[in-house]
Amino acid sequence: MKVKNICCIGAGYVGGPTMAVIAQKNPEIKVTIVDINEERINAWNDSDLSKLPIYEPGLAEIIKDTRGKNLFFSTEIDEAIDRSEMIFISVNTPTKTYGKGKGQAADLKYIELCARNIAKVATTDKIVVEKSTLPVRTAEAVKSILDNTGNGINFHILSNPEFLAEGTAIEDLLNPDRVLIGGESEEAIDSLAMVYNSWVPEDQILRTNIWSSELSKLTANAFLAQRVSSINAISELCEHTEANVDEVARAIGMDSRIGPKFLKASVGFGGSCFQKDILSLVYIARNYNLNEVADYWEQVIIMNDHQKRRFSDNLIKTLYNTVSGKKIALLGWAFKKDTNDTRESAAIYVADHLLNEQAQISVYDPKVPKQKVYADLNYLNTRSEKENETNVAVENSPYDAIDGAHAIAIMTEWDEFRNYDWEEIYNKMKKPAFVFDGRNILDKNKINKIGFKYYSIGQ
Ligand code: NAD
Ligand code: UGA
Repeated sequence: MKVKNICCIGAGYVGGPTMAVIAQKNPEIKVTIVDINEERINAWNDSDLSKLPIYEPGLAEIIKDTRGKNLFFSTEIDEAIDRSEMIFISVNTPTKTYGKGKGQAADLKYIELCARNIAKVATTDKIVVEKSTLPVRTAEAVKSILDNTGNGINFHILSNPEFLAEGTAIEDLLNPDRVLIGGESEEAIDSLAMVYNSWVPEDQILRTNIWSSELSKLTANAFLAQRVSSINAISELCEHTEANVDEVARAIGMDSRIGPKFLKASVGFGGSCFQKDILSLVYIARNYNLNEVADYWEQVIIMNDHQKRRFSDNLIKTLYNTVSGKKIALLGWAFKKDTNDTRESAAIYVADHLLNEQAQISVYDPKVPKQKVYADLNYLNTRSEKENETNVAVENSPYDAIDGAHAIAIMTEWDEFRNYDWEEIYNKMKKPAFVFDGRNILDKNKINKIGFKYYSIGQ
């Protein structure tokens, strides 16, 4: 069946870019993205494209091309569901913060609400596509809700996990390594494959059973995060042995069996998904009493927490064991470059630790607004909102952020940081002027020559 109307529930980092590309590549399909968050929908509809709720290179151009033609953003959820033959569920699946599985299991309440909503409203047969990242066997629960609370119509469930990375979402969507579709109904799978076929070659569309598809998404993220934790573990060993982690990464990455990607040592991975998805995998494994499997994957998170902690510990130790009353400038707050997303960013945890040691923090990030920095710190609940406001300054210019600082901590690998006038920065700082490069982006020789005391990861 050729689909004519698509509805996507969830106008977030996945729903927005993914549907924008689907709409652009399928001008004959009407795509409606719905969300309960009215403010977010209004931002997607803003005529000023710099106000879109998500910053992704290339996204604004696609929205400009498609919005109001065959791409629509709306809060009229029921209407969009009923009109569409295919409904993507792209809502958030965060780690549970309450009850059984608190701190580990994925919270599926938003998924269940979507399933119940679809069941209540739908009066014609629907293909329901799991786009969110879900624990393996979630489709069973979704199907049960749809079949038991629906209006007696047919629902086909597909799993179609998303592999885009933030900062390169549009590039990843336009040139995916593969598109994965898991399901039982060949016809439903074909309908979804046809949507992607508009730009993805058939041999890159992988068809599997639904459980393999669900589990592949968690596995892919676990493998990727594990590579980062592995190289970060080696970075600590490098610091004790005069080996250089970037050289080690290059040397091992040239082995075609290992490959060069995802071997950049850092202050620790962040983002909304790596930690949440590994915790979810660990929880699932424990549920099946697979304790060795669970322990194995849990170590990836333990290593990542250690890496964030040892970065701030090292900073404090180097600043003569006290940062109390000292201004420390954090360059970057986003969890990686080219995104305004700060979820689980290492910067949050490093700042929190330094604040516990009574440091004065100043922050500059090219894309993260001031309120977001405070919201991230307040969410931790470590101290009062007032204290965060008093001890953290968020600046609009990097030169203001570093003015009079004892140390700079580079938290995000934004390209612009490389091109700053580091001589001027040096002149504006307290001496000795320290730089802790959590991303190994600066030229060590050049920075040392200016007079900085430069510390990087694994060197
Ligand atoms: P997000 O928080 O940015 O967006 C989710 C949206 O869903 C929110 O705007 C929220 O208001 C909306 N929503 C929640 N419940 C709803 C309901 N009942 N009805 C209507 N709208 C509702 O999340 P995201 O980053 O887009 O992630 C969504 C899913 O995709 C998650 O499962 C995530 O693991 C997965 N994923 C994310 C990425 C990424 O890079 N962010 C990549 C691949 C997969
Ligand atoms: C990751 C995966 O790469 C996507 O395939 C997946 O779809 C997505 O999670 C998801 O499910 O949400 P994302 O988190 O957006 O994408 O970004 P990554 O590029 O994977 O980076 C994650 C974190 O790891 C960042 O903090 C990044 O700085 C860090 N990282 C990455 C390193 O420290 N070193 C590396 O070599 C690579």
